[in-house]
Amino acid sequence: MDEAGSIIKRDAPAHRYAIITDDVVGPLYASRTSEAIGADRCSVLTVPTGETHKTRETWAQLTDTLVEQGHGRDTTLVALGGGVIGDLAGFVAATFLRGIPYINVPTTLVAMVDAAVGGKTGVDTGAGKNLVGAFHRPACVIADPRTLRTLSDRHVRSGMAEALKHGIVADARYFELVASCAEEVPVDSDRMVELIAGSISIKGEIVKRDEYELGRRKVLNFGHTLGHAVEFQSKYRLFHGEAVSIGMALEAEIAERVGIAQPGTASSIRAALTMAGLPSDYPTELDSKGLLAATRVDKKARRGVVEYALPKCIGEMAGAETGWAIPISDVTVLEVLG
Ligand SMILES: NC(=O)c1ccc[n+]([C@@H]2O[C@H](COP(=O)([O-])OP(=O)(O)OC[C@H]3O[C@@H](n4cnc5c(N)ncnc54)[C@H](O)[C@@H]3O)[C@@H](O)[C@H]2O)c1
Ligand SMILES: [Zn+2]
Repeated sequence: MDEAGSIIKRDAPAHRYAIITDDVVGPLYASRTSEAIGADRCSVLTVPTGETHKTRETWAQLTDTLVEQGHGRDTTLVALGGGVIGDLAGFVAATFLRGIPYINVPTTLVAMVDAAVGGKTGVDTGAGKNLVGAFHRPACVIADPRTLRTLSDRHVRSGMAEALKHGIVADARYFELVASCAEEVPVDSDRMVELIAGSISIKGEIVKRDEYELGRRKVLNFGHTLGHAVEFQSKYRLFHGEAVSIGMALEAEIAERVGIAQPGTASSIRAALTMAGLPSDYPTELDSKGLLAATRVDKKARRGVVEYALPKCIGEMAGAETGWAIPISDVTVLEVLG
């Protein structure tokens, strides 16, 4: 964070900057960031915290304010916050004046290990998550693990779900590293830096080769078909990482049931999630039919059949022959949902 000013000016030089943040992160880090850039050419736009504000309405308010404040194509946006702010501010950057540069300054573990990297931006609608959005690369990403000191334990654990996902989809040794940190997450330590760097490197490699998710990038959706359904149906009471945790446990079970995953894969995944204090069963107030219906709205349905990214074992995904997406029948999904 102390170097943010010089990094931003080097990688995204601009006439003016607008920091977009939420009302929890803003009071903690906005003035520091704005001073690092130069307060005289930096404005701060604050939105209410939480997934329920990752909407077209908030997008409209932000773009209106940018116009009112006279921002132009020589402005660079700075997304300062968790994944919600990164997705939202990134989408503002992708669309304002047909696209201006932005920088991600992630302050949650979910955002550091996952959301801030890869250029997916967007907002939710009443029908589902991330249904309106764009691919728009950040000019740079500045992750300072010390900002995690102020993050709640529950949100830190939510980030561990995405880190475990990176191990499952690509690297069994990395999975072991994350699992070994799961019980007592070493927030303020070199291991945390190693963990964050490990996830960025795995995701970065995948995204570099398939930026627009035409093939292998789909493996990063492991846990997200049912995860997004659970997150949406819980009305966002479950955090993203918690819902993805449940999604990974269920989808690994699907993979075993259809004979794609080695026996024991699902139980190893479940054990690591439990160690990280993450849920692997969906809340009893949600029903299986509603969840199944929600998977159809997700972007992972093709010609009406819902497709999944499924593991062969920890460290390797199935589906290389079929574009990394595997259609699964409703009957199988309902069997696993119980
Ligand atoms: N674009 C992508 O590739 C991608 C990948 C993963 C997740 N996501 C999206 O990210 C979102 C979830 O992100 P999230 O879990 O970071 O949620 P979030 O942005 O809502 O942040 C979680 C909470 O922590 C607070 N907070 C953030 N940083 C803090 C800090 N340093 N100290 C104290 N409090 C802090 C926030 O105000 C919020 O209340 C979801 O919308 C998900 O869809 C996107
Ligand atoms: Zn995710």
